[in-house]
Amino acid sequence: MARLPHIALAVEGPAFTTVTGRTVEAVPDRLYLVDSTGVIARVLDPAGDDAAKARHAAEIAGWYTKLEPGQYLLPGLVDTHIHAPQWAQTGTGLDEPLEVWLDKYTFPLEARFSDPVWAEAVYSDLVATLLRLGTTTAVYYGTVDTEATLTLAALAAKAGQRAFVGKVVADDPGANPRWYRDSSTRAALAETERFLGGIGQLAAKAPQGLYGVVTPRFIPSCTLEGLKGLGQIAQQTGAFVQTHVSEGDWEHHFSLERYGVSGTVVLEQAGLLGERTILGHVVHASDDDLRRLYAHDAVISHCPHSNAYFASAVAPVRRMLDEFKLRVGLGSDISGGFSPSLWQTIRQAVISSRMLQAGVDAARAPARRGRPGSALTVDEAFYLATAGGAEALGLKAGRLLEGYLFDAQVIDTTSATGNRLPLFDEAADAGSHGVFEKIAYLTTAANVRQVWVHGAQAVPPPGGANH
Ligand code: GUN
Ligand code: FE
Repeated sequence: MARLPHIALAVEGPAFTTVTGRTVEAVPDRLYLVDSTGVIARVLDPAGDDAAKARHAAEIAGWYTKLEPGQYLLPGLVDTHIHAPQWAQTGTGLDEPLEVWLDKYTFPLEARFSDPVWAEAVYSDLVATLLRLGTTTAVYYGTVDTEATLTLAALAAKAGQRAFVGKVVADDPGANPRWYRDSSTRAALAETERFLGGIGQLAAKAPQGLYGVVTPRFIPSCTLEGLKGLGQIAQQTGAFVQTHVSEGDWEHHFSLERYGVSGTVVLEQAGLLGERTILGHVVHASDDDLRRLYAHDAVISHCPHSNAYFASAVAPVRRMLDEFKLRVGLGSDISGGFSPSLWQTIRQAVISSRMLQAGVDAARAPARRGRPGSALTVDEAFYLATAGGAEALGLKAGRLLEGYLFDAQVIDTTSATGNRLPLFDEAADAGSHGVFEKIAYLTTAANVRQVWVHGAQAVPPPGGANH
């Protein structure tokens, strides 16, 4: 009998996961053995001798979880773009274009996060909400305020969520209100360095992973000197970078008019593109831009909800994946997107891609209405929300396979949750792809019964919103 590794957790049940590509496989009952470093060490046939021995040992140690009938194990979700402070205005104010929305609602809201009591109240509620929805990793924008953004990082770390967190830089006095900006370019760079140092200290106590992110808000908020300074910091520290680029027509043309080149080229010239750069949106980018992103191995966060409000177009995700071989994850983009649920974002990614494929103007002939070959399947959207997002962040996670981090959630399809899924024909084949599809389309927080990040249970307090 093969020697078993030191096991810290054993979970038994049926699962849905991608295996190599973007197709979701139904995996029959298996015993998942997770080692003390949070990695799936073995996936065993539950009927075998190894499984019996491991199950017995785990039961005695109190580390054994067996899924109930109607429950399934799925990988945790990765939100690659979310503005934590905007949780307080989620679902409101989306009647304005981006450039108005920022000035009218978002900057005044974000400025309030210099109040630590307010920051803690909003941030702790958001982190708990995301975990209840199965989001095991999140890539957060904080605010310009360093301390409040460190508070966000500390709260995510304490809750057991894997987090990438950035202090927002907005250093152009001509573009940002006096009451919500970095006091100078020098101060913006110094505060970014201080922030990364603070994250380093917090990360020592976050085995699930906590990463500082260099975060120029977007090109219109920053001076060129600020962008270049941040590029240098990213290169010197190896930190991740996040920003928005080519989100909508206004912002896309802003770069062309101010700098004579696209936003992607501005970021490239500032030294901000690399394999650890996460770019929100990239809706209006040219083929040349996409080729440059590939050359730098930069990654894209596709945010279909907010794109429906602010982008005036649908990002060509299939082209990004298949033609340009880019790494792509999904982002809720709270609160340009209205839903904290990456399950909802999966659905919108499918819907938006289908509208891009078919077109939307019935007055045009069908053949001239859309962009053929654009539709994403629900499997592909789920891949983007799991393994795709993890690959974008350089994490071996997002699949329930040996050697992968155990970031997982139990989805309960039964009436016990208050959101019984309509499973009828599936009684004869509980492991059918149809069950996965119903989970993907109908899951709410009520169905998420257990969440593990890096092999550790991350249990948010019960109750709260049920998105
Ligand atoms: N561009 C600059 N800031 C923002 C933001 O907060 N949300 C979105 N969607 N786009 C932005
Ligand atoms: Fe955003």
